[in-house]
Amino acid sequence: MSVDLSPFTSLDEFERHALEVLPAMPRDYYRSGAWAEVTLRENRAAWERLRIWYRVMRDVSDRSTRAEVMGRSAAMPVCVAPTALQRMAHPDGELATARASAAAGVPMILSSLSSTSVEDVRAAATAVDPAARTWMQMYIGRDRGMVRALAQRAHAAGCDALVLTVDTPTWGIRERDIRNHFRVPEGMRIVHLERPGGPTGHAGSGIHEALSWTIDASLTWRDFEWLRDSTPLPVLLKGVCRAEDAARGVELGAQGILVSNHGGRQLDGAPATVDALPHCVDAVAGRVPVLVDGGVRRGTDVLRALALGAQAVCVGRPILWGLATAGEPGVAKVLALLQHEFDVTLALAGCSGVDDATADLLRP
Ligand SMILES: Cc1cc2nc3c(=O)[nH]c(=O)nc-3n(C[C@H](O)[C@H](O)[C@H](O)COP(=O)(O)O)c2cc1C
Repeated sequence: MSVDLSPFTSLDEFERHALEVLPAMPRDYYRSGAWAEVTLRENRAAWERLRIWYRVMRDVSDRSTRAEVMGRSAAMPVCVAPTALQRMAHPDGELATARASAAAGVPMILSSLSSTSVEDVRAAATAVDPAARTWMQMYIGRDRGMVRALAQRAHAAGCDALVLTVDTPTWGIRERDIRNHFRVPEGMRIVHLERPGGPTGHAGSGIHEALSWTIDASLTWRDFEWLRDSTPLPVLLKGVCRAEDAARGVELGAQGILVSNHGGRQLDGAPATVDALPHCVDAVAGRVPVLVDGGVRRGTDVLRALALGAQAVCVGRPILWGLATAGEPGVAKVLALLQHEFDVTLALAGCSGVDDATADLLRP
């Protein structure tokens, strides 16, 4: 039975609905932050605290939400963040997300812990738009051969960037997952990173044991250099908080910096990404694009991010809420709402496009 999406007027509506309809295990896996979920809440609250000092009398009748994102034009400065195991939200999972983001004209970052292969995701995206963009999120796990093979696979499938997540030397502790004995559901596979010597993720409770082999606590900058040299694709760093780490990443060849705290799922007590963003923007000093994710729920947040120097934002959970509500049309509506809100925000702030979203909007 298809859901009537006309009453869904905001991303928060999708969240409310998804939390009602999802079974406890995926619901809690998706919504959780680490420990007391302070950073999870702060990500959202910190955007809301920023006041927008709008301009008036600027003729905003001819506007566009289009933006350059990592060297190419996108329909808006928004990307789909990588989130694992999307088939727990809807049987179409990542395929629905790929089609909806291709139709919306925004890049999709595919999680390496996806429940659908990168080849199938690329086929779904390019069937909608041959120019659709997919970036492959990577962890560097203990088995470097597996990592290299996935990087090659992503390149062969037509991905145009790798996104290396660097905030996960170990998994953050998400208490709801422990209580629910989180495990990859029967019949679902983490297709790119099967557990060596056995079925995927059916042992243990909580994400620690279920996915332990996909990450490596010994990672250093050398491992980033190794990945950079193993692929012809540009590599972005995802999960950066501090200015010196952003600068170091750029010096070592990162082609983009994604300021993120993994949606509050790793170190609880980390600053909201909006608070970390200006430090990273200063440190990067325009050498490569800076992106940000975490708690972006409104078109006003997109404007705030741009005014702080980000080139684009990524959205994580709202995509899952759209999927859980209605599959592909749900994700499409989430992205359409965000674009509409961003367009209206531009107009009300006195901007005709992203180039007008300058710092003085937040600090007049
Ligand atoms: C359920 C879930 C799964 C996620 N899986 C991954 C992942 O596999 N790799 C990764 O780099 N980030 C992952 N993230 C983090 C997101 O990419 C993103 O940083 C975060 O969700 C942004 O915050 P938001 O959900 O408030 O938009 C996940 C987040 C959630 C909520």
